Amino acid sequence: MSTVSYDIPGGDEPLSGTEDKVTPGDLDHFRPLPRISIHAFCISDSLLAVMDDCSHDRRMTKASLRITQGGVSAAINMFAAAPTPNLIILETDARPQELLVELQPLAEVCDPSTRVVIIGRYNDIALYRELIRNGISEYIVAPVSMVEVISAIAGIFVDPDAEPLGRSIAFIGAKGGAGSSTIAHNAAFSIASLFSSQTILADLDLPYGTANIDFDQDPAQGIAEAVFAPERLDEVFLDRLLTSCSQNLSLLAAPSILDRAYDFERGAFLPVLEVLQRSAPVTVLDVPHGWGDWTRALLAEVDEIVLTAVPDLANLRNVKNLLDALKKLRPNDKPPHLILNQVGMPKRPEITPADFLEPLEMTPLAIIPFDAQLFGNAANSGRMIAEIDGKGPAAESFSQIAHAITGRTSIRKNRKNGLDRLLGLLGRG
Ligand SMILES: Nc1ncnc2c1ncn2[C@@H]1O[C@H](COP(=O)(O)OP(=O)(O)OP(=O)(O)O)[C@@H](O)[C@H]1O
Ligand SMILES: [Mg+2]
Repeated sequence: MSTVSYDIPGGDEPLSGTEDKVTPGDLDHFRPLPRISIHAFCISDSLLAVMDDCSHDRRMTKASLRITQGGVSAAINMFAAAPTPNLIILETDARPQELLVELQPLAEVCDPSTRVVIIGRYNDIALYRELIRNGISEYIVAPVSMVEVISAIAGIFVDPDAEPLGRSIAFIGAKGGAGSSTIAHNAAFSIASLFSSQTILADLDLPYGTANIDFDQDPAQGIAEAVFAPERLDEVFLDRLLTSCSQNLSLLAAPSILDRAYDFERGAFLPVLEVLQRSAPVTVLDVPHGWGDWTRALLAEVDEIVLTAVPDLANLRNVKNLLDALKKLRPNDKPPHLILNQVGMPKRPEITPADFLEPLEMTPLAIIPFDAQLFGNAANSGRMIAEIDGKGPAAESFSQIAHAITGRTSIRKNRKNGLDRLLGLLGRG
């Protein structure tokens, strides 16, 4: 949540419950906003509620937001005595011919670098042009939605000419040993090779991580250096910690030794995540099965989450709980992806995929059969599934996963693809 403070007579918090709910996914393509200060002046309860919703969106985490009940005159009074923030959002019901006159005293107290967004009542193109000519950054007609507000702020502060920030995808298992790391490593490899996209795989399982084994690497340093020396961390330092695994895939490996305890505070991995996102278009995070403060903080921050589960009751219960918890952590994001793994292990009693998915009301991204030989060979020889059996169904699943989590449309529609197979396994194909 962003730093938020309220100046509202009769209470510390605004009326909540905006009518204008966000559809999950609406905000997907907006990058997190930088560390800016925003002061919103609201005259309507609906804008108060929208601004309050904005303050809870993860894209606003770094911004600090102050919300005041009042209009242009409140802003003028406030900034006559106080410095102006990076952005003022101002709601007004002034008529078009009065608006510029009303804003004039504000212009006199506003720092030239401060940007102003006006939320007005009149849908008037001449007024819009006049305001923009006079240095107003954006004019939006009320009632506004949270998406419009965040989009307006992003339009001003997220520089379209800058390199796009990287997409972060966290993989976590619903239970230990579900195969989350295996899937994360194979997905990272597929993204790097299929799309020639620079990808960093970060192994966050510091004591036991297996990315180093899976890629047959023995790096001296890696994620531990990044987490325990945040003051030294920047793109240059990160570069020294990365090991190259394939043409476009770099690994930030775990030490995988037990010479110390690995206890992390809540925000421990966030500086690493930020540098990773500045450093490569795609970051894959292999998050160990667990639910500590740092896990929650990290999962609240990433762009996509992939849950991996094995079809048994404990996994089902844990997936349900994870879905509920993640919904609270990320109220304006799509639900995580789900992968059912190790399906059809001989002699193991299992919940069928259809029965597993029915109470969750979701379609899995992939259903990966249990294949001890293939996965065992890959793990023991330090190679990826695509390198061992590039044409097999498991490799095809990793390709599908790579497409879905990077937002690319699927390929090879003429072949029997993963979804057909998946529906077949569900008994609906
Ligand atoms: N579909 C599969 N078929 C057969 N074996 C598999 C499959 N997927 C993963 N495995 C094997 O299961 C084991 C556990 O996998 P992995 O280490 O990826 O699990 P994890 O969920 O990351 O566990 P942890 O909770 O320790 O992080 C590995 O030996 C891996 O090779
Ligand atoms: Mg793991």
